[in-house]
Amino acid sequence: MASVAESLSGLDIAGGDWAASAPPGLRSNLPALSPDQVELAKMLVETGQSRVFEHWADPGVDDDRKKAFLEQVARLDTSYPGGLASYIKTARELLADSKAGKNPFDGFTPSVPSGEVLTFGDDNFINFEETGVKEARKAAFVLVAGGLGERLGYNGIKVALPAETTSGTCYLQHYIESVLALQEASCRLAEDGSGTQIPFVIMTSDDTHARTLHLLESNGYFGMQPSQVKLLKQEKVACLEDNDARLALDPSDKYKIQTKPHGHGDVHALLYSSGLLNLWHDAGMKWVLFFQDTNGLLFKAIPAALGVSAIRQFHVNSLAVPRKAKEAIGGIAKLTHADGRTMVINVEYNQLDPLLRATGYLNGDVNDETGFSPFPGNINQLILGLGPYIEELKKTGGAIKEFVNPKYKDASKTSFKSSTRLECMMQDYPKTLSPTAAVGFTVMDTWLAYAPVKNNPEDAAKVPKGNPYHSATSGEMAIYRANSLILRKAGAHVGDPVMQVFNGQEVEVWPRIVWKPKWGLTFSEVRRKVGSSCSVSQKSTLLLNGRDIFIEDLSLDGALIINAGEDAEVCCDKLSQEESSKCTGVSRAPYLSFPLFSSFHARHSTLCAFI
Ligand code: UTP
Repeated sequence: MASVAESLSGLDIAGGDWAASAPPGLRSNLPALSPDQVELAKMLVETGQSRVFEHWADPGVDDDRKKAFLEQVARLDTSYPGGLASYIKTARELLADSKAGKNPFDGFTPSVPSGEVLTFGDDNFINFEETGVKEARKAAFVLVAGGLGERLGYNGIKVALPAETTSGTCYLQHYIESVLALQEASCRLAEDGSGTQIPFVIMTSDDTHARTLHLLESNGYFGMQPSQVKLLKQEKVACLEDNDARLALDPSDKYKIQTKPHGHGDVHALLYSSGLLNLWHDAGMKWVLFFQDTNGLLFKAIPAALGVSAIRQFHVNSLAVPRKAKEAIGGIAKLTHADGRTMVINVEYNQLDPLLRATGYLNGDVNDETGFSPFPGNINQLILGLGPYIEELKKTGGAIKEFVNPKYKDASKTSFKSSTRLECMMQDYPKTLSPTAAVGFTVMDTWLAYAPVKNNPEDAAKVPKGNPYHSATSGEMAIYRANSLILRKAGAHVGDPVMQVFNGQEVEVWPRIVWKPKWGLTFSEVRRKVGSSCSVSQKSTLLLNGRDIFIEDLSLDGALIINAGEDAEVCCDKLSQEESSKCTGVSRAPYLSFPLFSSFHARHSTLCAFI
């Protein structure tokens, strides 16, 4: 290792000694720094960051804090592809573009890409679902859960929140149980009869890592093998305080650079550097599915969407929902540049309309004969073909094109209300793909596929009428609605919803119907267990916890919870008001007992039955 004297002697910049141009606080401390620390200090001075040293005390004072500062700089430097200098350089370019109001898609003409529009429950849908379940054993699931959830204002982690209050199942448990149900169903269909463990990755951040691990460990990984689950922690990036990309110091600690999350786009670089992708590939895996922390409906859409990826051989398949023209949700569009470049990508709604108008579509984004925009709404759940994904990441290392979104103080755009940072989004992955890549989409009904929980109740109550609340209330109600509609489609009679106001939000309240993923993973599976004599009134609560529960003849006007063990088969039949309610349990597991229960045909929502 070079001595400090050697390090300093080789560090001339622009024909002069860089140290001479460094602030006095840094200069006087240089002899106490290691050569590596000197290199980092030099990099900061050269990139116009001298201000971070201006307040440095004389040697002997605050030395530990100075050391900690340089350790943080080293972490920020190594965790960003190309280092901190590259981060600052990109930031300057993007901040200049932002100040100039440049549209990142200037020069591109949008058109509608190729995709699959599915109708829930028809033969086509069932066929895709079947294929998807078969493919699931060759898939890995990646949950991005490093976000701060500022809009929700909850001080815990979002995946620990209950998706609904009937069973109280939290998001993480629901996701894990869904993956396990897929694993079981997929392995049952495997021609060679082989079992598999579907890998489950969670991207965390400093804000969520410890609490996510604790949630898993204190709940026995919700039934998953701990070795199946991998946590990858993303690092934050430095905050910037002005258009010159000067690093912002933490207001409460001048020896610390303020940092913020870089966005879910980090997941690609993390997966690449983890080495997991190659391991999966060697194990015969074919797909990687990316999803977000609070969408209680997603797994209702996964089997069919995975089937679409497999049948249409999509390298990238974005899950989407019908989108009204100009609705505040990104649209999936094919963009073609005058110079021949093309990409299929999410275009934010406020960029799509002007882009269309600028390229010959005089009315911009308008609904077509279906009553929706031809550009489907991106819900940020992606299915990538593993082979092409690995090939692409070999070229890019997983780096995703970034953006910056400063909140300016005024129209002069010279200063920010608060510090900003570069961000990247996982759905921007296709931006660097070659035009020959098969990038498509799968559209499903919103009621089936998308109900994220992002907004706190106060903000949700202020959402203009007709727009989604995206709150815990609407997320929960969407689960009951989806389950009710699925049962209806399967032939059951399900009461009409009533409108009710919770936390200032008017929502449809359907019967509180909830089932574990292993009960109804696909529509065919639900249809097999429900009959046309099954009826559930609006004020009822029905919770099905077990795989082989058959409710062909259930007539429910109250509350019913059925907990059935692994090898139990439970049939509810001939339940009417006249006949005292009866449920028969057929147990093949001798240690389970199924006491018959009565009076669950209750008028009021009380817990009436347990098995
Ligand atoms: P959101 O858009 O919901 O952002 O992220 P957020 O940061 O969680 O919430 P707000 O904006 O502060 O209110 C979508 C998904 O991406 C993950 C989130 O955990 C969520 O699953 N995410 C977001 C990350 O994993 N890392 C990030 O840096 C940001």
